[in-house]
Amino acid sequence: MPDSPPFADIDGPVLVNAGYAVASRPILSGLDLHLVERRIGIIGRNGSGKSTFLRLVAGLIAPTTGTVRLGSHVPASDRKAMLSRIGILFQNPDHQIIFPTVAEELAFGLRQQGMDKVASAQAVTDLLARHGRSHWEDHSVTALSQGQRHFLCLLAVLAMQPQTILLDEPFAGLDLPTQARLARELAALPQRLILITHDPKTLAGYDRVIWIEGGRVRADGHAGPIVEAFTAEMARLGGTDADTDLTN
Ligand SMILES: Nc1ncnc2c1ncn2[C@@H]1O[C@H](COP(=O)(O)OP(=O)(O)O)[C@@H](O)[C@H]1O
Ligand SMILES: [Mg+2]
Repeated sequence: MPDSPPFADIDGPVLVNAGYAVASRPILSGLDLHLVERRIGIIGRNGSGKSTFLRLVAGLIAPTTGTVRLGSHVPASDRKAMLSRIGILFQNPDHQIIFPTVAEELAFGLRQQGMDKVASAQAVTDLLARHGRSHWEDHSVTALSQGQRHFLCLLAVLAMQPQTILLDEPFAGLDLPTQARLARELAALPQRLILITHDPKTLAGYDRVIWIEGGRVRADGHAGPIVEAFTAEMARLGGTDADTDLTN
């Protein structure tokens, strides 16, 4: 683990020999990690286990071996406590959005957190105004573009003010200006971010980068050297013509 300072006093997820298997096939194994830094990147090839890792950290799945904890909580069983602690932004906004209008979508998490109807409606109005999107309030979500729906999902996460935000390839499928805007929005967030990306350039200045391969940590440290090693390895693999190398 790198020696950059932990992020304030906010509890970070702790994994102890954590693993996840489906039908006795291991997808993640032997994870010993204390995720305390403020900006943490996750890199790895397709199928290496990155998305499963985020789901495990968020408590959307429980480890089949070892433990995952956040402070005194077990994320997979203490869902209510996670509402204010961990937010997750999925790669595909259409897996996340469940309501017909922007206002309803944004109010949902706040209502789950126990806010009453009037207060949540006001919080949604304020949130949209802060992000220059007041005109979205009564919009149908289907009237938004993919990039806009993605941003709506981020707003839904931000509305709940979680201490840690997990993001699964948030830039994939967005056009360049939308990517740049999202990158600026993310950079300005005070929260801890744990970000999966295919584009290691996004991780410049990150406190820590974890490279996952075959469901295990292959490398873990400061962004510079880890990204450099990963990029070199991907270039090396790209230079071979062996499909036999691909695991899936
Ligand atoms: N619920 C599941 N059942 C069976 N296999 C799964 C399940 N979830 C993930 N996998 C498999 O685990 C591996 C890692 O998947 P994933 O975490 O999505 O990787 P990544 O996000 O790095 O592309 C893949 O081979 C995937 O097919
Ligand atoms: Mg994935």
